[in-house]
Amino acid sequence: VSLKHRHGPVAIVGTGALGTALAHAFVASGVAVRAIASRDPDRAAAAASAFPGAIGVSLDRVAKEAPVVLLAVADSAIESVASALAGARGVIVAHTSGSRDTKPLAAVRAHGARVGAFHPLAAVVKPAGPVDAGHWTTLFRGAAFAIEGSDGDVTAQLTQLATALGGKPFTATAAAKARYHLGASMLAAFSAGLAQVAWEGMRAAGAPADVASAGVGHLLETVARNVAAAPAPAAALTGPVARGDAGGVTRQAIAAEVLPREAQVLYRAHAEHNIQLAQHAGRITKETADALVAALHAHGNSSS
Ligand SMILES: NC(=O)c1ccc[n+]([C@@H]2O[C@H](COP(=O)([O-])OP(=O)(O)OC[C@H]3O[C@@H](n4cnc5c(N)ncnc54)[C@H](OP(=O)(O)O)[C@@H]3O)[C@@H](O)[C@H]2O)c1
Repeated sequence: VSLKHRHGPVAIVGTGALGTALAHAFVASGVAVRAIASRDPDRAAAAASAFPGAIGVSLDRVAKEAPVVLLAVADSAIESVASALAGARGVIVAHTSGSRDTKPLAAVRAHGARVGAFHPLAAVVKPAGPVDAGHWTTLFRGAAFAIEGSDGDVTAQLTQLATALGGKPFTATAAAKARYHLGASMLAAFSAGLAQVAWEGMRAAGAPADVASAGVGHLLETVARNVAAAPAPAAALTGPVARGDAGGVTRQAIAAEVLPREAQVLYRAHAEHNIQLAQHAGRITKETADALVAALHAHGNSSS
């Protein structure tokens, strides 16, 4: 049985980072992309020209082109884009925001569309230059997808699309999406911010910029592998806190004094957070945790 075009076809609204990535990944996975819509007709046509069989269309036409329309538009634009769709009766219209439920799709739902949410848990940027097809096929492989649907068939169809991309879909509880997205966003954005702290430390120690960039990237990959394999991330903690090493914490607290003020605050907050996690995970005893907190507060410009 051919895997080609088992699901979909789909239409995508938005030519930004995620819309572009989804279009490439669907096509690479054998899901047909029929149309790409944009506020700007030239952008829609240019984006669609990358995919044989796809056409560039305006927002009011896109829902007539495919049974599933995915809105990869700015979170704040979902309402206005949903209002601009026409002829969407019976069509599945799903947005790709992780922080919003399906209420912003109320306008199109009132016109007979079935609505949902399709959130890939991946950090996606527009590539700076040309990339090979493998880039797109691996982008969502293994990614969690938070799925919502106004009925079971919508959830099932969006789940199948996520699976076609190699993702790991789950049905999301609407009321918990803000919390879900907060954690995911903290991880993605703050780990990149922490990477900058590590990168500057490597530069200070003599690493050339390219070695520092590749080095922090590799370090993150090893953390990612450890976390993915652990029953819960706290089991994958490394470093002096996880080892219960008060001397190591003391040396780090002293070293942290040269960091910019905001990074010092981060160091302290993360160390305290990890002490809590390590204790709750049974990695260190309460006595060790207390000793680590004392070591942390014996140095640095702590406000306590
Ligand atoms: N990037 C990620 O890592 C990621 C991951 C998961 C989910 N998401 C979600 O994907 C959605 C798009 O994010 P993105 O990262 O792709 O953002 P982006 O690169 O800024 O692209 C957003 C696109 O939305 C369209 N848009 C913006 N303002 C609009 C408006 N007022 N009316 C109509 N269309 C408008 C634009 O497309 P046109 O110029 O073609 O109209 C723009 O290219 C968001 O809901 C985001 O939460 C992103």
